[in-house]
Amino acid sequence: PIRKWTEYQGKEMCKILDKACPESAPHKAYTAFRYADPLTEEALEEMKEDGVEHAIAFSQFPQWSCTTSGSSMNELWREVRRLNMTDTFRWSVIDRWPVHSGFVNAVVERIEERMSDFEVDDPSKVVVLFSAHSVPMKVVERGDHYVPEVAATVKKVMERWNKTNKYILGWQSKVGYVPWMVPSTEHIIKSLGKRGVRRVLVVPIAFTSDHIETLFEIGEEYAELAEEVGIKEFRFTEGLNGSETFISALADIVQDHIESKTNCSSQYKMKCVTCVKPLCRKILNPAYPKAIPAEI
Ligand code: FES
Repeated sequence: PIRKWTEYQGKEMCKILDKACPESAPHKAYTAFRYADPLTEEALEEMKEDGVEHAIAFSQFPQWSCTTSGSSMNELWREVRRLNMTDTFRWSVIDRWPVHSGFVNAVVERIEERMSDFEVDDPSKVVVLFSAHSVPMKVVERGDHYVPEVAATVKKVMERWNKTNKYILGWQSKVGYVPWMVPSTEHIIKSLGKRGVRRVLVVPIAFTSDHIETLFEIGEEYAELAEEVGIKEFRFTEGLNGSETFISALADIVQDHIESKTNCSSQYKMKCVTCVKPLCRKILNPAYPKAIPAEI
């Protein structure tokens, strides 16, 4: 349901923005996926038809990775050039928001909702397993920002929740044979079961909407595994989906971005140590040409 939720979140976010920022209204959200419909081209064509002036490329990955946000941004700039739209829109970029307070609050709300489903006298006995999509170790080794930013989100969420439950961060959805970031979520579940943990709450921390890796991989595959290793209650939090707290956070992030009159975060211009790709961390036709942080 990721498309359904992304479109819903965008529409609701714009209703808030139209009231909060009348000077830049009307606002409209367009959805572009990297590998599924609607692709970047479709969104760009629709934006052109609508006469959009200032376009904000708003990554829906809270934590930056060159394999996700970076890949989508590079595709965006490639498509803008291919479609001869380099001068059609002025661009700025919201590249990351891993510790935004509204986002963190929305995650905490989801944790509290699901915690109330556990049949346990002492809720502090539930182990919280944060799970993020893994990345190949070669990506981590080149200095990609994802792993530290996911860890920063986890830390903020635990601080805000302010409970004494034990927690751990795992990495899921590895594909292929090269080494990926570990420990894997699967390995952690096996190990918790072996060590006598009977109640586990999984919190998908790098996904904002439900999709195959939450509903199927966590909700079905990992749930089966948990049962096999003796975990009695295995639950996972719902994606942020239609959360009003989350949608207000999205509007807040955009409002802050518009008011800051900046093109991107300063960290956007910190490239991976071995990167030689010319398009990485570019902004074509920036909205504020004088406010571009220096690139390293
Ligand atoms: Fe990370 Fe290019 S691959 S900046």
